[in-house]
Amino acid sequence: MKKVFITGASSGIGKALALAYAKHNWCVGISARRSDMLEEVSTICRESGGEIFTYQLDVQDPERCKSVAKQFINDAQGIDCVIANAGIGGDDGLYTGSSKDINNILNTNILGVTNSLMPFIPTMKDQKNGTLVCISSVASYVPLPFHGGYSSSKIAIRMIFDSWRPTLQRHNIKTVSICPGFIDTPIVKGPARKFPMRSAEDAAFKFIKIIRKGKKTYVYPWYYKFLILLVRIVPESFYNIVIRKMFHRPIT
Ligand SMILES: NC(=O)c1ccc[n+]([C@@H]2O[C@H](COP(=O)([O-])OP(=O)(O)OC[C@H]3O[C@@H](n4cnc5c(N)ncnc54)[C@H](OP(=O)(O)O)[C@@H]3O)[C@@H](O)[C@H]2O)c1
Repeated sequence: MKKVFITGASSGIGKALALAYAKHNWCVGISARRSDMLEEVSTICRESGGEIFTYQLDVQDPERCKSVAKQFINDAQGIDCVIANAGIGGDDGLYTGSSKDINNILNTNILGVTNSLMPFIPTMKDQKNGTLVCISSVASYVPLPFHGGYSSSKIAIRMIFDSWRPTLQRHNIKTVSICPGFIDTPIVKGPARKFPMRSAEDAAFKFIKIIRKGKKTYVYPWYYKFLILLVRIVPESFYNIVIRKMFHRPIT
């Protein structure tokens, strides 16, 4: 039985991934801060036939991440794949006079990813096998006003993976960066909900296939590739005028 550990599995994409892996009969480790919601996910996963272990975990806590990783490897008797999915969105708090909001985003979305993945790497290196996955974002290619923390956190984790890849490849460890556009989950709030969205279930179905193939970087859905290309080729001054009009009020 293959083993996957997922952070941020109490809702949205993480929950959908947990359910999809359980349906494929994987042993699934699910983690998040809200243990009541994790228990609900665990019950549904068990009904689908998977073996499930749940862990209350704040990814901002590196020591807890280490002990949970050790516990899961022990409970599941190994590790094949780790998905660093936990993340938060939100406004930078640009006019608040405080770095509290933006730093919370950076801490969760960057350090939370390194905290949760790195404890698994020595085991994967020893066994010469494994897959590390990070959930980046289309926002890592498209700077959004008032969301510098979010966009930059998603670039950072993609870049960390690009940096690790050639080294980890030598140990047969794959590194997969997934860059979703809007997916219908609680993280998408306010005016952003007007954009077309895919369901978390459709996304998870696709992501599992991509992770199995070990694709390096994956933009989903496919049409966001055109947006990324457009942002690259239009002059910055033009992009700034358009994006300022689109986000004349901060989205929260
Ligand atoms: N939905 C989209 O449109 C979209 C697009 C691009 C990228 N993404 C990325 O996809 C990932 C999943 O987001 P989602 O859309 O599924 O949103 P979501 O439904 O809000 O899920 C976020 C998950 O992260 C967990 N989390 C947040 N802070 C945490 C912390 N400090 N420690 C542990 N877990 C924490 C939450 O659980 P608890 O609150 O219970 O801890 C929750 O399970 C995020 O990294 C997000 O940036 C989403």
